[in-house]
Amino acid sequence: MPATCNVLVLISGSGSNLQALIDSTQTGADSSKSSPARICAVISNRADAYGLARAKQAGIATQVLDHKQYDGREAFDAALMHAIDSYDPQLVVLAGFMRILTPDFVRHYAGRLLNIHPSLLPKYKGLHTHQRALDAGDREHGCSVHFVSEELDGGPLVLQALVSVQADDSTTSLAQRVHAQEHVIYPLAVRWFAEGRLQLTPQGAMLDEQLLPASGYQTRTQP
Ligand code: GAR
Repeated sequence: MPATCNVLVLISGSGSNLQALIDSTQTGADSSKSSPARICAVISNRADAYGLARAKQAGIATQVLDHKQYDGREAFDAALMHAIDSYDPQLVVLAGFMRILTPDFVRHYAGRLLNIHPSLLPKYKGLHTHQRALDAGDREHGCSVHFVSEELDGGPLVLQALVSVQADDSTTSLAQRVHAQEHVIYPLAVRWFAEGRLQLTPQGAMLDEQLLPASGYQTRTQP
């Protein structure tokens, strides 16, 4: 079993992805199946983020850094880096952390910063991804895990879950199915990283020393 990998999770809201990560890293009865990832702390930029309660419930350290208390993006990100580094994580995971990151921040965590986004990137960066997929008449939608680059919702893709769009889908029904897949692929990507199987190289994201395709490793759910 590889050594423990300390993971720090950044959130802004509900933290359902955080919950999926907590559930996947808690040691079960069969330790051979447990992930070497350990969540060392959760930091939120919002004091009212429900994810903080989830972390406390799991006995995980929490911290709030309210971006409104800082004089600009650079000052906030500098304070955030300071807070993160005090926990000495090997991996930093953005789980619904709704902030645009400065280039300094992204460079500081290069190769050890993952994000999840509710679309099949590079489609639909930013907000309202489910509505945009429905408006475009897409037959397929989904979610993506990627290493973070300086571009918003950009960077080499690791994993994508493809979800079929049904004729009678609403934004809510589609979002629910995509969200459920987020809770599957994010713990998997974090586990790959913690096991030393996933790496970012100058050529792109690699899994088991093989370069991943531009779309990342893709999974598909049955309609
Ligand atoms: C998730 O759907 C995640 O993909 C999205 O925020 C939501 C957070 O939900 N992230 C982004 O849109 C990043 N651009 P959660 O708080 O329940 O995990």
